[in-house]
Amino acid sequence: MFNKVKIAQIIKEAQEAGVDGAEASKILNEMKSGPEAKFLQTFCALEAIAALHQHAHWNVKGENFYEDHLLFERLYHNSTGSLDRFAEKLIGLIQIPIPAILTSKKISEYLEKWSSVDGQTKGEILVKEALAAEKDVIALLRELSDELDGSPFKTLGFDDLIGNIASVHEESLYLLQQRLSSRS
Ligand SMILES: [Fe+2]
Repeated sequence: MFNKVKIAQIIKEAQEAGVDGAEASKILNEMKSGPEAKFLQTFCALEAIAALHQHAHWNVKGENFYEDHLLFERLYHNSTGSLDRFAEKLIGLIQIPIPAILTSKKISEYLEKWSSVDGQTKGEILVKEALAAEKDVIALLRELSDELDGSPFKTLGFDDLIGNIASVHEESLYLLQQRLSSRS
């Protein structure tokens, strides 16, 4: 997830702060596979699911159009609120910038995984896709929480934030499940 310029910059800053070469390369390895990688992966999933819901809000059609249009609007607002809080915590806590160029590929991968349609679509299809996406996001948040155990990034506040974001997405999951069961 990190480009070479960013990694070089982080190592340079670490060395300036008195970190020796061996420790700098340890930081590099941790950034490729440790909690930081999971932070960015989760950020990308949260941004992707917000986009997924907003596009569903715009593209849904069918006999339940207005109800579905409003449902996806609610899911979209829930998602953007979570995304904003997560991104600001991320930047504040671990000082990782998240330029669009760094995250766009992973966001696209999530959207390609979750979304199969390219035009106006019936609510049932969009609801099923959104449901699968919500399950993925909740699983990612659980993995992030597990990975943070024993890590210096695990603060009470960050733990609480992850739980809060999971709660928002569990609510979205519930709404989507109710939407599906009420029409089947
Ligand atoms: Fe709208």
